[in-house]
Amino acid sequence: MAKTSVRRIGLSLGADLCWPACFEGILRRLDLSLRLGGETVRFDVERVTIEPFALDQPVRYDVVFDRIAHWYAPTREWVKKAIVHDDTYVLNNPWSIQSMEKHTTYAAMMRLGFPVPATWLVPPKSYEPKDDLQVTLRRYARLFDLGEVGRKVGYPLFMKPYDGGAWVGVSKIDDEAALRAAYEKSGTRVMHLQKAVSPFDLFVRGLGFGAQFTAFRYDPSAPLHARYVAGPAGLPAEDFALLRDMTLTINAFFGWDFNSCEALRQAGVYHPIDFANACPDSQVTSLHYHFPWLVKAYVKWAVFCAATRRKKRPTLDWEPFFEIARTDAPFREKLRRYGEIARARFDERAFEAFCAEHLPTFDEVARDFFGTDEAKQAVRAKVAALFPAHEVEEFTEHFWAQVQQWRRDDAAAR
Ligand SMILES: Nc1ncnc2c1ncn2[C@@H]1O[C@H](COP(=O)(O)OP(=O)(O)OP(=O)(O)O)[C@@H](O)[C@H]1O
Ligand SMILES: [Mg+2]
Repeated sequence: MAKTSVRRIGLSLGADLCWPACFEGILRRLDLSLRLGGETVRFDVERVTIEPFALDQPVRYDVVFDRIAHWYAPTREWVKKAIVHDDTYVLNNPWSIQSMEKHTTYAAMMRLGFPVPATWLVPPKSYEPKDDLQVTLRRYARLFDLGEVGRKVGYPLFMKPYDGGAWVGVSKIDDEAALRAAYEKSGTRVMHLQKAVSPFDLFVRGLGFGAQFTAFRYDPSAPLHARYVAGPAGLPAEDFALLRDMTLTINAFFGWDFNSCEALRQAGVYHPIDFANACPDSQVTSLHYHFPWLVKAYVKWAVFCAATRRKKRPTLDWEPFFEIARTDAPFREKLRRYGEIARARFDERAFEAFCAEHLPTFDEVARDFFGTDEAKQAVRAKVAALFPAHEVEEFTEHFWAQVQQWRRDDAAAR
């Protein structure tokens, strides 16, 4: 009899309800028992609890999916310890999440040649008091003409926090008077002024998960629960390939297994405008039709990482990207080469071979699962957490109908 070993996957969660319930449900139904290197490997999934820990105490997980390290310090420090002390595979790289704001991602991708719109950073309108603040500003802060910066960027432009998220503090600005008024109100926030991609004829959000990628159409003018457009994005193959190369390049560059990239198309060019989302929305209440894709991507990547004892890359290793950036090749060619590095770093080939060999029934199991009462309860739980009581039934049915549409489309596509 082959030795049996158990790989443990830890889910480190905050407000997430729907995808973890589906993740657990699918894994349970798969009931995996894989023959790997002379062993029989089984999988266990647990929710990570928050409690005191000794820095040298062993971690019981092979893989941790973290969704709170970007705002909850004890967990952020625990996952760092789990990587450096225990070799745990943690999504996403916590150091990179902590330090790579929107700002760094814009600057780095500009260097790689991505058509990020012109962006300036301006010092804040006001400050919290600090001991050395006044002397520093008196000596070194130059008076500047905000109007001149606005003219250099060009109108319309967006004023938005350099480290933003969730549309907080984002405003569209059409002229100098509006720019001055918005700056007056911006308080202590450090802001970017970014040239608007305006008009645009398509807004897409690409989602990368390890080597996996998909793209959705996005409608920023729709109410929150309908911003992702249901149904396949219907992009030409070359556009899809370009967005995939962009998203996976960003993810590999910053050590994020999981991230989304928003891009606006103008005159045939996709301009990425927001791609520092290392904990992107994973809720059925915003992803609806696309939710099963996401859950499936979570499960496959988790099982692959745990089964193969995937190693965390200890460094981000940017030089291979910069080497390509320095060549004279046209941007699309450079991007193709960045994409190759990214796919190699995410072990695309090994991942695909693993799925083909060890998860042959996965698509069917997942499709069946998304028709069960267990899946519907997961949808309801998330709706109940977000919507007023009198809307819970209506919106549960609404999102459930979109998931069922996905099941029909998925069955037809295979
Ligand atoms: N340069 C731009 N050109 C056109 N539209 C823009 C630009 N920058 C931002 N926007 C609009 O403002 C919205 C919010 O901007 P952005 O995505 O950068 O902020 P965010 O706070 O990270 O938002 P979220 O977390 O919801 O993605 C975008 O979805 C888009 O509709
Ligand atoms: Mg955004």
